[in-house]
Amino acid sequence: TSAQIGVTGLAVMGRNLARNFARNGYTVALHNRTASRTHDLVKEFGQEGDFIATETAEEFVAALERPRRLMIMVKAGDPTDAVIKEFAPLLEPGDMIIDGGNAHFADTRRRERELREQGIHFVGTGISGGEEGALHGPSIMPGGSKESYASLGPMLEKISAKAKDGAPCVTHVGADGAGHFVKMVHNGIEYADMQLIGEAYQLLRDVAGYTPAQIADIFRTWNTGRLDSYLIEITAEVLSHVDAATGKPFVDVVVDQAEQKGTGRWTVQIALDLGVPVSGIAEAVFARSLSGHAALRAASRHLAGPRPAPLSGAEAAAFADRVEQALYASKIVSYTQGFHEIAAGGEEYGWDIDQGAVSAIWRAGCIIRAAFLDRIRAAYDARPDLPSLLSDETFAREIAAAQDDWREVLAAAVRQGVPTPGFAAALSYYDGLRAPRLPAALTQGQRDFFGAHTYRRVDREGAFHTLWGGDRSEVSA
Ligand code: 6PG
Repeated sequence: TSAQIGVTGLAVMGRNLARNFARNGYTVALHNRTASRTHDLVKEFGQEGDFIATETAEEFVAALERPRRLMIMVKAGDPTDAVIKEFAPLLEPGDMIIDGGNAHFADTRRRERELREQGIHFVGTGISGGEEGALHGPSIMPGGSKESYASLGPMLEKISAKAKDGAPCVTHVGADGAGHFVKMVHNGIEYADMQLIGEAYQLLRDVAGYTPAQIADIFRTWNTGRLDSYLIEITAEVLSHVDAATGKPFVDVVVDQAEQKGTGRWTVQIALDLGVPVSGIAEAVFARSLSGHAALRAASRHLAGPRPAPLSGAEAAAFADRVEQALYASKIVSYTQGFHEIAAGGEEYGWDIDQGAVSAIWRAGCIIRAAFLDRIRAAYDARPDLPSLLSDETFAREIAAAQDDWREVLAAAVRQGVPTPGFAAALSYYDGLRAPRLPAALTQGQRDFFGAHTYRRVDREGAFHTLWGGDRSEVSA
């Protein structure tokens, strides 16, 4: 027999994806740089389905039915290139290499171009959902050619998560790097969601005066409403966890320096290149880096701030309700920003990305899965050309209802000295978009003053310059 799919790179993600394929009835060829891992997988999980253990690259390739579907699950960057270099010479036109790692989409574009010359389809694929998702059903974001999706899509649909309506959480996102681009933005939104939740927690603790266990209960309640999501759910789990060694809340014994592997940073770097204001995502990345500057933080601890004055009783409870409003409104903004980046990337790279389809495949399986995504999907389905999520009537109405509380929460945070970069960036973005006039006019005046950079007028076409050093008359530029 030959295998419908092969997986090389059998660390936890690769191993669980291989098992997922096998559990769904596919014959899976296995390969790993150190063969012991391959044999361990078969020994431990062989009864789950049909596996073909192979040791060499040649054996692995020979085990695959044609056109071959070869999935690589190795570290992004050089290791991915090394594996491609090893296997590509053994493949034939029409074969597919699927990269399921967190590759940078620019690398994916390059690899796709190079392999296309050889007639090989390179399918850069975002996969979200962590270890559990890989095994039980991830959200899958494949790029690459339409042709490759025709052959691969049905298999991915089978192993993917299913939304509540039964729809598989996979769609052909677009050509070449589109899948990895969308996965990158997914992770940027993930960072923003996590930061906003973190700020909500800090406010509930420092302003409302709740304990981590009480805050866990508040999150559990929120999770039954419009904030219903995987990240809120696990937040409650983490907050209610007690450290066995000390008896303290787990969250108090963990070093408060957040790490990152790069996808959030890429989201912001690319947004800067595309000119898309993803301020909420950027603040989330910066908040992680600020947390990691231990020496700088130690040197700043004596800096002046307001005296803590936590609320209590009914006031605290009312404040918690306001925080829910602020969190929800800020969340709408960060998704607005993320989807703007997807639209801009699609335009820049010529991908025809269906935003409704992207929100649909994020409804289950992935880290940012949430009831909320069904509503985003509905907004894009109702109006595929929606200029921004904020222009959707339902979201606009919800923000309108939330805005007083949102502002109150930020005012309290500022008064009490609780850092809320995510909430603040989201509100500033919202107010910036709403503003009838922005100080950008003044910026233009300054640029024209010091550098004759010219400006446009509200009442006439053309570019103008004022003779600032002379009689200050205006000339056409
Ligand atoms: C997912 C996750 C996954 C990974 C993050 C973690 O969608 O399953 O996003 O890809 O856990 O990349 O990112 P950081 O280590 O940068 O927080």
